[in-house]
Amino acid sequence: MPRKLAAGNWKMHGLARDLSELDRLAADHSVPGCDVVVCPPATLLGPAAARLEGTAIALGGQDCHFAASGAHTGDISAGMLRDAGARHVILGHSERRADHGEDDATIAAKMAAAHAAGLIAILCLGETEAERDAGATIEVVGKQLAAGLDADADADNTVIAYEPVWAIGTGRTPTEAQIAEVHGFLRSTLTGRLGDAGEAVRLLYGGSVKPANAAEIFAITDVDGALVGGASLKAADFSAIIAALEAA
Ligand code: PGA
Repeated sequence: MPRKLAAGNWKMHGLARDLSELDRLAADHSVPGCDVVVCPPATLLGPAAARLEGTAIALGGQDCHFAASGAHTGDISAGMLRDAGARHVILGHSERRADHGEDDATIAAKMAAAHAAGLIAILCLGETEAERDAGATIEVVGKQLAAGLDADADADNTVIAYEPVWAIGTGRTPTEAQIAEVHGFLRSTLTGRLGDAGEAVRLLYGGSVKPANAAEIFAITDVDGALVGGASLKAADFSAIIAALEAA
């Protein structure tokens, strides 16, 4: 059984004053029974790293460029994230796919860049509501998974987050059966591709996870944790989700 992982994605939220949430999180989980990572905006990575030094809370970036360096105004490389104290990076989030037109080939190049820099990549995939209604969910996530995994991907450096687009930030979640179906498919695809290592890749569910539904989601087979957006901004909520994961 892979060690479980609770990942918080602050998205474009958070100023210096919000770093105090991390103190509370670190105090609540000094010896967590699962891995915990927070992905604040890039502006806060440096100060957050200083604040979390010596704690059990890890840091991640929310995206990186596929190039190691160069003339890419406004972009951040995987090596820069690492240099700032990150050990993880979220890639292929549906908001990046939608807002920045990221396609599977770009995301695969970013995966390779993240792995070359020694980061753990959290690869996000998921169907839109129209794709689910058309019965195309498995086909869509299968394609995103096959395209996104780079040649270096293994159980130590890669985490998969299934995030149905229609469940992100909406308060709606799939049924247990719908999550189980997709996670079971991802697991069998990963073992097909990576052999036994595919059993150890962490499969996160993301999309409107909150304290009230966390235990129910974490009881589903092949759910090894969560990628949490809105409910990760306040330490009290994220702590309750982490506690549910520890108890699962
Ligand atoms: P949410 O976001 O928890 O606010 O739905 C999840 C995500 O986008 O990672």
